[in-house]
Order: sequence, then C-alpha cells, then structure tokens
Amino acid sequence: MTRLSINLNKVALIRNARGGNLPNLEQVAIDCEKFGAQGITVHPRPDERHITFADIPKLKALVTTEFNIEGNPTPHFINLVLKNKPHQCTLVPDDPNQLTSDHGWNTIENESFLTEIIAELKEVGIRTSLFVDPEGKMVEGAKKVGADRIELYTGNYASNYINNKYSAVKPFTEAAKVANDIGIGINAGHDLNLNNLEFFQKNVSNLLEVSIGQAFVSDALYFGLYNTVQLYLRELK
Ligand code: PXP
Repeated sequence: MTRLSINLNKVALIRNARGGNLPNLEQVAIDCEKFGAQGITVHPRPDERHITFADIPKLKALVTTEFNIEGNPTPHFINLVLKNKPHQCTLVPDDPNQLTSDHGWNTIENESFLTEIIAELKEVGIRTSLFVDPEGKMVEGAKKVGADRIELYTGNYASNYINNKYSAVKPFTEAAKVANDIGIGINAGHDLNLNNLEFFQKNVSNLLEVSIGQAFVSDALYFGLYNTVQLYLRELK
C-alpha cells in the first residue's frame, strides 16, 4: 500500500497572501484526513512564505494519521522538529531562497553531517527520510547514515514523463531495487499528479508513501477537496 500524504504548503500560501485565516489550514488538514488522506506533510522554509513555524504545533495537535515535516536541517529547523515530534522528518538539501526543492542529498559527501542529525532525530523516535535523486550510490549512502527511508525526488520523472514515460521511470525502478535490496523504505515526491502517479507507483516496487502538494491543490480548485482526495487515492489503488 502506498500512503497519500498531502503537502499543505500551497494552502498556507493562499492564506498568507491576505494575512488572515482563509483558507483555514487546520480545517483543511482535518478534512483531508476525514476524506481519506493518510498523511499530512508540511515544508516550513526560513522565510515562512507558506507554512509558518507557528502552524507546526497546531497541526501536530490535530493530525491523527501521519505527520511529516520536511526541510533543510538548519539548527532552527531541527529544534522545531525535536519540539514537535512528527512521525516522520524528511531532510531536504534546499537553499533558503530556493523556489522549490530540485535535487537530493549527496549522501556520500554529507555522510558525517547526516549521520549526526539522523541519530539526534532517531533518539526521540522520529522516523527519518532523506530526499535523494534516483542514484544507487546515494540510496546506499542514505542507508549508511542511518536513514529509515529515502524520498525519491520525482521532478525529473514528471518532466520526462511527457516525452517517454518508460525511460522517465527507469532510474526510479532501478533505485527502488537498490533500496529494496538493502532494506531502506521508499517515499517519493515532487510534481506527481493525476497523470503520472499511477504509472510511477506501478513501476516502483514497495513505494510506501507519496507526498503531493502543487498538483493536489490545483486539482482541488476544479474538483473540490473531497473529490480530489478520492481521485488521488484511486490512482494509488
Ligand atoms: N517533497 C519535497 C521534499 C518537497 O520539497 C515538495 C514540495 O514542497 C514535495 C515533495 C511536493 O511537491 P509538489 O508540491 O510538486 O507535489
């Protein structure tokens, strides 16, 4: 089974545009879960342009499925995570000014840094996942530094899918084989949508979780929140 975790960043972005509480982020989280989503993901960035640091404890208090906080492990981010103890923390090597995450960790060059951070998170029982590109040696590196899971960065899959879905998915199928062989769990995310999701899941064995934000929120404008959750769940059946 592949769990659907909804990334709520873009809901927060709309709210922040007016400085009030519309849409109500907490209510959207409650409703996503009520409608069948199996997780809630947030990616606080240092400028708080979408999810704010104050949102985190509020969401932690209400999420009943799986709460996943992702981000760059700066000391501030790690403190936030340790204080709020999500079920899962996904470490992402994104620059503070980056528009969105666009690459995974070099798990070999960052071995000692990642080993230390992951140990700190694991000590308080937080499952850790490392955002990586679909490269066997980066997956092996993730295992070596103690991560429980990898999150495969699927931006390239989504852009190449349009031209040739078979070659687009091939590196992911291969990276997943490495992950399954060495016993590290597999998540995936970025630019997944109602067109490319089913094919990805069929070709990546033991895909445990996908986190989806941009396309989900865009689809919800047309279909509504309830229908959109059902449409994504259907792709993952
Ligand atoms: N995974 C990571 C690490 C991300 O940074 C993002 C975007 O915040 C996502 C998944 C979700 O990507 P999208 O919004 O394109 O679905």
